[in-house]
Amino acid sequence: MSQQLPPSADWVGHPTVDAVFDVVRDTASEVRAALPERRAYVEGHNPSGEKVRAADEYADELFCERLLALDSVGSYASEERQSARTADDGGEYHLALDPLDGSSNLTSNNPMGTIVSVYDEPVPTSGSDLVAAAFVLYGPNTTMVVSDGDSVDEYLIEADSAESRKLLREDLTLPDDPTVYAFGGRRPDWTDGVTAAVEDLEADRLKLRYGGAFIADVMQVLTHGGVFAYPELVDAPEGKLRYCFECAPVSFVVSAAGGRASDGYGDLFETDPDELHERSPVYLGNTDLVDRVEAELS
Ligand code: F6P
Repeated sequence: MSQQLPPSADWVGHPTVDAVFDVVRDTASEVRAALPERRAYVEGHNPSGEKVRAADEYADELFCERLLALDSVGSYASEERQSARTADDGGEYHLALDPLDGSSNLTSNNPMGTIVSVYDEPVPTSGSDLVAAAFVLYGPNTTMVVSDGDSVDEYLIEADSAESRKLLREDLTLPDDPTVYAFGGRRPDWTDGVTAAVEDLEADRLKLRYGGAFIADVMQVLTHGGVFAYPELVDAPEGKLRYCFECAPVSFVVSAAGGRASDGYGDLFETDPDELHERSPVYLGNTDLVDRVEAELS
């Protein structure tokens, strides 16, 4: 049973984080409403060399303007920008966003997400400098999962509702009896260790659930238990996902839900990236499964 919360209710009880999450909630509803008219690709590529849709640019501009205007927010970085934009009057918290993750799913009408990281150091920096993280899932409903590192809550966001948000799941934790796995990349491109790890998971009767949108795939793991990976590949040992914008914040949430995140060879939070758009392999989900994957890789 969901619980309606008044507009004034805290998200995590940290003034800056609560203000950031308020903006994300309001803006996410607008981003969702704007998607049908912004499916086309625009000229050029993002800093990771990926094609950009009008929806990616729109979401990035909207989040940037609104979040940078908040007191205590010192900078805004995103997957769509070469470098971070800084606030005129400084601020001690630094945001890193993937404004519209998985936007290649737009044409096929499959889920997408927004990933929000609140760091207390300018990015690039280690995931151990995260203060809070959240993600929005644009699925059949728009939901928002938030964490301050201690617990994880899931909300329903309703643009037309007089209510601010509805609490769907409080203190969400990974189930003890995992049933799903989702590994990105083509099988022929997996290293022998990754192939062995997947064979181990399938032998344990876990089933494949992969949709090509990070947040949607992670939400299946958080709900059913299991492991998500965008692994090392033979020709791309760094995998595909970006450390500051994708791997670290989602690992932060999964860890707070009782799970674990690894880059394949150690704790993901031990990494200290040199570049803003640096990629990292990522394996996250139930701790015992992530441990087993790591054992196959080493
Ligand atoms: O980083 C963008 C992204 O779309 C992620 O959301 C997703 O996990 C991944 O790329 C999908 O990649 P692929 O198309 O190789 O499966």
